[in-house]
Amino acid sequence: MVWSRALFWSLQLFLVSLPLVQSGSVPAGGACSTDNNHVESSTKKSLTDCDDKTFCLVSGSTNGTCTPKKCRRDEFPFGYNPGETIPPICSQGTFCPDDGSGCQPLIDVGGTCELSRDEQCKQPPNWDKLSSHLNFNGSICLHSRCMYANATIGQRCLLDNTTYVDPGPGDQQVSRTVFRDNCRTPSFFCDQTYLQCLPTKPLGASCLRDQECQTYNCENSVCVYPPETPLHVSPWQTVLTIICIISAMAATCITLVLVHQRQRLERRRELREYYHEQSR
Ligand SMILES: *[C@@H]1O[C@H](CO)[C@@H](O)[C@H](O)[C@H]1NC(C)=O
Ligand SMILES: *[C@@H]1O[C@H](CO)[C@@H](O)[C@H](O)[C@H]1NC(C)=O
Ligand SMILES: *[C@@H]1O[C@H](CO)[C@@H](O)[C@H](O)[C@H]1NC(C)=O
Ligand SMILES: *[C@@H]1O[C@H](CO)[C@@H](O)[C@H](O)[C@H]1NC(C)=O
Repeated sequence: MVWSRALFWSLQLFLVSLPLVQSGSVPAGGACSTDNNHVESSTKKSLTDCDDKTFCLVSGSTNGTCTPKKCRRDEFPFGYNPGETIPPICSQGTFCPDDGSGCQPLIDVGGTCELSRDEQCKQPPNWDKLSSHLNFNGSICLHSRCMYANATIGQRCLLDNTTYVDPGPGDQQVSRTVFRDNCRTPSFFCDQTYLQCLPTKPLGASCLRDQECQTYNCENSVCVYPPETPLHVSPWQTVLTIICIISAMAATCITLVLVHQRQRLERRRELREYYHEQSR
C-alpha cells in the first residue's frame, strides 16, 4: 500500500502546517507552564503554551518563560519567516528534542525517547547488520524506550501502534495506524497475535500489514511487488524481440527487392516486345 503511505505522509505534512493544530501562542519572554505540555491526540504533535519559535523553559518555580528554540530538526522549520535566523541543526551524535530546547547526546538502549524518534537512540554495536529502512541505524523507539531492532525468529517482540487522525477536508476523518516493532527487519516481523518474531512472507502469501511481506507491500491481504518495482525482462524475451525486429526488417527488404526485380523484368519484356515489333 505504497500510495496510501505517500498519502499518509502528505497528510501529515499538510497537518503540521495547518493552523488548527498550531502550538501555543505565547511569544518569547511570555509566561508558560509545562503543565500544559501535551501531545495532540489526533496528530501526535507535542504542544506547549509557547509559539512555534519558542519552548517553555522552567528554572526553579513551576512557571516558565517562553525562550527561543535552541535547535531545529527540519531543514525548513515551521513558523519562521524567510530571512529570519533559525536555530541550528544538531551535529552528529546529538539530537534535537521535539521542543527544540537544545541538542542532547543520543540515548542509550532502555532510555526514554520521544514518539517515533528512532534517531534519538544510540546505535547498536552491530548497527550495520540491524539497519534497515524501518529503523534508524538498527535502533528504534518503541513505547517511548530506545531499543535495538534485534529480535529474531521465535523471540518475543514489542509491537507499538500509533493512530494518526486527520480531520480531512469537510468533516471526513482519515485515520491511519502505524505499527512498529523490534524484530530484525526485513527478515522478520512481529506477529500481532503471538507477539513473536516470524519470518517475513513471500510473494502471494496472505498478510495484514506491509511489514509481514518480504516485498514490504501488502495489498488486498496478499503480499505483492510494490508498484515501483522495475519490470524485469528475461534474456529469452530480449533475444526473441531482437529476432522479431531483424526478421521484420529482412522481410521488408526482401519484399522491396522482389518488387523491384519484377518491375525491371516487366519493363525489359516491354522493351523486347517493342524492338520485336520494330524489326518486323
Ligand atoms: C504561575 O502561573 C499561574 C497561571 O498561569 C498563575 O496563577 C501563578 O500565579 C503563577 N505563579 C508564579 C509563581 O508566577
Ligand atoms: C549509522 O552509523 C554510522 C556509523 O556511526 C554513520 O556513519 C552513519 O551515518 C549512520 N547512519 C545514519 C543514517 O545516520
Ligand atoms: C538485543 O539487544 C538487547 C539490548 O542490548 C539485548 O539485551 C538483547 O540480548 C539483544 N537480543 C538479541 C537477540 O541479540
Ligand atoms: C494498539 O495498542 C493498544 C495498546 O497499546 C491496544 O489496546 C490496541 O488493541 C492496539 N491496536 C491494534 C489495532 O492492535
